[in-house]
Amino acid sequence: MVRVQVPASTANLGPGFDCLGMALKLFNFVEMSETNLGLSIEVTGEGKSYIPRDTTNVVYTCAQQVFKTVGHNPKGLRIRLHNNIPMSRGLGSSAAAIIGGLVAANVISGGTLNPVQLLRIAIQIEGHPDNVTPALFGGITVYAHTDEEVKYLKIDPPSGLKAIVSIPDFTLSTKDAREALPKQISLEDAVFNIGRTALLIASLQRGDLNLLSVAMEDRLHQSYRAGLIPGMRKVFAAARLAGAKGVALSGAGPTLIALTDKNPDLIAKVMKETFLQSGVKAKSVVLDPSLTGARALEIKN
Ligand code: HSE
Repeated sequence: MVRVQVPASTANLGPGFDCLGMALKLFNFVEMSETNLGLSIEVTGEGKSYIPRDTTNVVYTCAQQVFKTVGHNPKGLRIRLHNNIPMSRGLGSSAAAIIGGLVAANVISGGTLNPVQLLRIAIQIEGHPDNVTPALFGGITVYAHTDEEVKYLKIDPPSGLKAIVSIPDFTLSTKDAREALPKQISLEDAVFNIGRTALLIASLQRGDLNLLSVAMEDRLHQSYRAGLIPGMRKVFAAARLAGAKGVALSGAGPTLIALTDKNPDLIAKVMKETFLQSGVKAKSVVLDPSLTGARALEIKN
């Protein structure tokens, strides 16, 4: 039996569309063991009423992908999931399921695949690297790929950095949020985002949060998605007034994220109240970045 802990993640961090992400200290747990027959899946926590318990379960299909790759054939499998990451909210619940399944299956089949091989499989399944990379490695991750290779770097988040996530009580699928985006963008907007992404990485590396208000601006996706998230702009403005250093849509949304090193509780309260003024019930949570990615907490034979 193996028990794997996987962090939530926030993708894009504003301008870094499909290439930046950060792991957060909110965890899902995947327990996996080989049995003599069949498949048993138990789920507690987020998604327990609708996550499939059959062979369509994502954790199971990811495990199968590892077993197929390494030539391992368990007779049966028992999977227990305990989920703390809210689903379809832009906090990487699907990446956590994918990474949890891959890492757990890799451990019980002898640890044949290295982290980059696991990352490659995860990206093939998820389609985007910006949640699976921090979910696997932790910290803040920068990602790019060529036709043959995946390239990533992990940066340690600045000390004292707090992430306030304001999570609306409605879901938004990444597919719908991507359909709101234009197929082409102007050179001016591309330059706007390139400059800010570079500034953001440099600021985070130096631990200079004062540049985040500009460095987290974006023109590639957030304004196109604003119509899907009532109150988005007002919540951003209120969070800034309350002292947030930078604000962004968390991944494809609908969760909004603010980064700060001061007064996180006040910012959390203001974000929640401002959402409510736009008719959206939301829960605000203050989270620390997670320096560690997916890891096996317990291994028993
Ligand atoms: N970068 C993605 C998006 C986040 O904004 O659509 C989900 O992987």
